[in-house]
Amino acid sequence: MKAIILYDTRSVGGSTDRFVDALGSSLAETGAYVEKGKCKATADYSFVQDFDVVIMGAPVYYMIVSSELLGALIQSNLKRYLRRKKVALFLACGSPEPMAYMMYLPQLKLHLVRNKILAEKVFAPHELSDEQAIDEFVTNITQEYKKALKTRNNSLKWTKEAQELLAQIPPFFRNRIRIAAEEYAEEMGYREITANVIDEAKAELE
Ligand SMILES: Cc1cc2nc3c(=O)[nH]c(=O)nc-3n(C[C@H](O)[C@H](O)[C@H](O)COP(=O)(O)O)c2cc1C
Repeated sequence: MKAIILYDTRSVGGSTDRFVDALGSSLAETGAYVEKGKCKATADYSFVQDFDVVIMGAPVYYMIVSSELLGALIQSNLKRYLRRKKVALFLACGSPEPMAYMMYLPQLKLHLVRNKILAEKVFAPHELSDEQAIDEFVTNITQEYKKALKTRNNSLKWTKEAQELLAQIPPFFRNRIRIAAEEYAEEMGYREITANVIDEAKAELE
């Protein structure tokens, strides 16, 4: 699994920064390839195409999810590149859990109505450095990802022609095209990835 953690915080070196590092390490221990990136509301998010899973989260300040992450979802091309992506969500906040699930998580989920959400968790301040809480979150993500992958692999076959076409794509782009073709076929309900499906998926990337 190739995962990226997109996050925001106002406190450099604060609780969210440390949490993201611990989350990344825990995920990497499962064999995943992990990168992290701090959100900017106006950045170019085309790199998201290269990842199987996008983990997003931020602290809540004054009842609003931290502004660069929310801003990226509203102002940038992030939402476009999140299309069909499997995502996981986390929040850091001091409010009681039910309130956070009701008031804060929807601020992110509103933008992700068509995404498969593998896991979501609100972390209380003391949980941000709690290895067990972090490992549980990672276990939820990896288990749900494996389930989704199994379903996809059982229903999706690559034709020989499509495999040959993929092999001709330069290595740098091959993974991006493979991910795009599988995500596209999954959404369209195709059972087979043919050369045409690859072309359709490629056209959607442009
Ligand atoms: C200025 C400020 C405002 C906050 N506002 C809220 C809030 O409205 N609701 C909430 O649940 N937690 C709130 N918190 C708690 C933070 O979300 C929590 O402490 C978080 O872990 C801070 O992350 P950071 O260390 O990366 O900044 C606030 C914290 C700060 C410093």
